[in-house]
Amino acid sequence: MENRAVYPGFFDPITKGHVDIILRGLRIFDKIIVAVLKNPKKRSLFSTKERVAMIKEIFVHRPEIEVKAFDGLLVEFAKRNKANIVMRGLRAVSDFEYEFQMALMNRKLNSEIETLFMMPSVNYSFLSSKLVKEVFMLGGCVKDLVPEIVEKNLKEKLKKGKFFFSN
Ligand code: PNS
Repeated sequence: MENRAVYPGFFDPITKGHVDIILRGLRIFDKIIVAVLKNPKKRSLFSTKERVAMIKEIFVHRPEIEVKAFDGLLVEFAKRNKANIVMRGLRAVSDFEYEFQMALMNRKLNSEIETLFMMPSVNYSFLSSKLVKEVFMLGGCVKDLVPEIVEKNLKEKLKKGKFFFSN
């Protein structure tokens, strides 16, 4: 049977740290479903459609990676997609409390689903989508931090004067 995991997140936008975790996950799983949270209440720079499209483009040659938007409970999404593992990246101790809480809540909601934490490359241990947006907006270089398509789309947003924020 195919060994599947869900990798959920907001991905506004996806960074090289996320990509690193996904590729590490492929050493363990046959299929990874990247689950992009649709959240109309949370402000985002990129719309759900844009966030999904960028991730699909990054992994266009990797059929083992599927990208889907989701709303509602993550454990329900995982069940619908026949995955019993939720994969999350842990960058530093500061991530732990939030991740621990989410993992235990997800276990309470569905005890058949396990959360697996993976460490990204140390090169990305300081990286977050929020910092990427801030650095970019203030004129910093994000080339090493995000995939090419993301950098291109950040430039596009800035050019259109649409840097902050759309849903
Ligand atoms: O990229 P993020 O913001 O750290 O991702 C958070 C995410 C999407 C994993 C989390 O918000 C989530 O799972 N949302 C779905 C709603 C849900 O299932 N909530 C209960 C479990 S905590």
